[in-house]
Amino acid sequence: MLLDDVVEAIVSSRFLIAFTGAGVSVESGIPSFRGRNGLWRRFKPEELATPKAFRRNPLLIWEWYRWRMEIVFNAKPNPAHKALARLESMGLLKCVITQNVDGLHRLAGSKCVVELHGSIRRIRCIGCGYRVEIDSPPREVPPKCPLCSSLMRPDVVWFGEPLPEDEWSRALDYACRADTVLVIGTSGVVYPAAYIPYIVKEHGGVVIEVNIGDTMLTPIADYRVRGRAGEVMDEILKKVMEKLKSS
Ligand code: OAD
Repeated sequence: MLLDDVVEAIVSSRFLIAFTGAGVSVESGIPSFRGRNGLWRRFKPEELATPKAFRRNPLLIWEWYRWRMEIVFNAKPNPAHKALARLESMGLLKCVITQNVDGLHRLAGSKCVVELHGSIRRIRCIGCGYRVEIDSPPREVPPKCPLCSSLMRPDVVWFGEPLPEDEWSRALDYACRADTVLVIGTSGVVYPAAYIPYIVKEHGGVVIEVNIGDTMLTPIADYRVRGRAGEVMDEILKKVMEKLKSS
């Protein structure tokens, strides 16, 4: 059975990492970007997720982010986030590399998390670079920097912007060391993030894809598990625990 082979691959891995995307948080009530109910079906990325759009209309961008922050701050980790945190605490999973900005992996208890696209739980000054964590959406938007009074923006990566250098180099380091990668809930179309599974594959590693459908990464997957991330990861975790107990 496919899931038994996946569990065997996980249990016998030497350096397992996870690479996650918006699909891992869908069961927490956070919409993904592409697909039937995706955000990019209703909104245009170039009008909302670029530095140019922010310069043109900071209020509009902030209203959109305030709406997304509201969703994220009310969301809770689902069984997929929890299963990954548990696999880490068992010593099996070394790190989660995520494209998500919702912070749910950390909230679930994952300790090693690389956030390639930043965090919606942090804002940053466009003038002096001052950063601050937030635990609710700013009451007044756009917020102003307490140090230099310039506008502050969500500390996320927008289209056309480079990834945070330290996060990217940590991600590359983990990908180069990994012999197995769990690719969960990502369409694999946004680069450079989507290089991560390719790097693992090129180093001779095993690629396990968990997704409700096929993606751009499906052709390099050694195992393709079809289903909702929360349900599949919960099942995988249970089977991993059973296997470890019986061995
Ligand atoms: P996408 O919205 O492109 O893809 C979500 C993936 O999750 C799709 O492959 C779905 O089939 C899958 N999916 C949906 N629900 C699922 C579920 N319950 N269980 C498992 N899989 C499910 O999201 P990302 O790949 O994360 O970038 O998108 C990458 C980047 O594009 C994002 O980080 C964001 C966006 O523009 C930035 O903000 C820079």
